[in-house]
Amino acid sequence: MLDDMGRDIHYLRLSMTDRCNLRCAYCMPAGGVDLLSHADILTFEEIERLLRLMTGLGIRRLKITGGEPLVRRGTIDLMRRAGDLPGIEQITLTTNGVLLEQYLDDIATMGIGGINISIDTLRRDRYERLTGFDGLDRVLRSIERASAILPVKLNVVPVGGVNDAELCYLAEFAREKVVAVRFIELMPVGHASRFGHIDTETVKAMMEARFGTMERCVDRIGNGPAVYVRPHGFKGKIGFIHAMSEAFCGACNRVRLTADGRFMPCLGQPDYTDLKQLLRSGATDAELTKRIRQTIAAKPAHHGFLNEANPASRDMNAIGG
Ligand code: GTP
Ligand code: 5AD
Ligand code: SF4
Repeated sequence: MLDDMGRDIHYLRLSMTDRCNLRCAYCMPAGGVDLLSHADILTFEEIERLLRLMTGLGIRRLKITGGEPLVRRGTIDLMRRAGDLPGIEQITLTTNGVLLEQYLDDIATMGIGGINISIDTLRRDRYERLTGFDGLDRVLRSIERASAILPVKLNVVPVGGVNDAELCYLAEFAREKVVAVRFIELMPVGHASRFGHIDTETVKAMMEARFGTMERCVDRIGNGPAVYVRPHGFKGKIGFIHAMSEAFCGACNRVRLTADGRFMPCLGQPDYTDLKQLLRSGATDAELTKRIRQTIAAKPAHHGFLNEANPASRDMNAIGG
């Protein structure tokens, strides 16, 4: 459906859980965060009921996120059932890649549109320090196997003093493989505000200095805000997610549903509609649809990351990016 600003909202980012098997320093504090209890998160039945209502309002693309979506048992089955819903034309998955390898065959058979895998460093010691887990080899294996069978995008968040020296090495993934390596500006959501963000222009300049002029890709790729270029001689692409700019808010196509049923019209604004509360207090389909429609209609014009009076208050793991 169109929101009040005329934007076509057809992409839902569905967070399956706020839990994660990693502790990326910029995402979750090492000391842990308050996690939702089992009773707090939507059941699969509740999620599917909402999905059916949302497809009726024009949601046709679905991103499965977390936390780490693959730590919730049943995520793969939910994806399969969601793919069978009338109106859903594409499902994609964003994962940290740690558990991916064991699910790849299942995922490949369901005809998923692509997988995004997070990888912020290629150094084992740094990976362990950044994520709290000695799992780089598993992630690299997942990337290798997934990219042989599905469209794969790699997500890199440049963090000052952490991985800035190896961004060009990470981009090298796209030289021989048909993958997209995307550099995401760190957003000051919750805990992340304490880390140094490196802006897109700086990363672009590093890439140009190393790889020369990069041809801008004009075709739209995926449903997110990334803009892509292809350095000379590369089979894959390099993407930039200029998350702190408001440039792509005018063309925003998405809404979010958190694991505990908060329906959020914008990543960078704290407002939400509590669909879990409505579901559990006996709301009818018509009532739920009305609230979903109202929330989409009133989607904010742009995020409030730069507005100190209006910070997004939850950590990224609870929103799903
Ligand atoms: P595809 O390219 O279609 O796979 O979508 P995507 O890039 O949105 O997927 P992914 O889940 O990999 O997200 C990549 C990054 O983009 C994450 O850090 C998200 O938080 C960020 N992102 C996605 N949507 C928005 C948005 O509306 N605003 C901002 N600022 N960042 C977003
Ligand atoms: N800013 C930008 N990206 C973030 N991610 C997690 N937290 C942030 C943040 N504060 C990234 C993860 C993952 C993607 C889904 O979101 O690294 O690649
Ligand atoms: Fe987990 Fe992703 Fe957060 Fe890292 S960024 S702790 S992989 S949810």
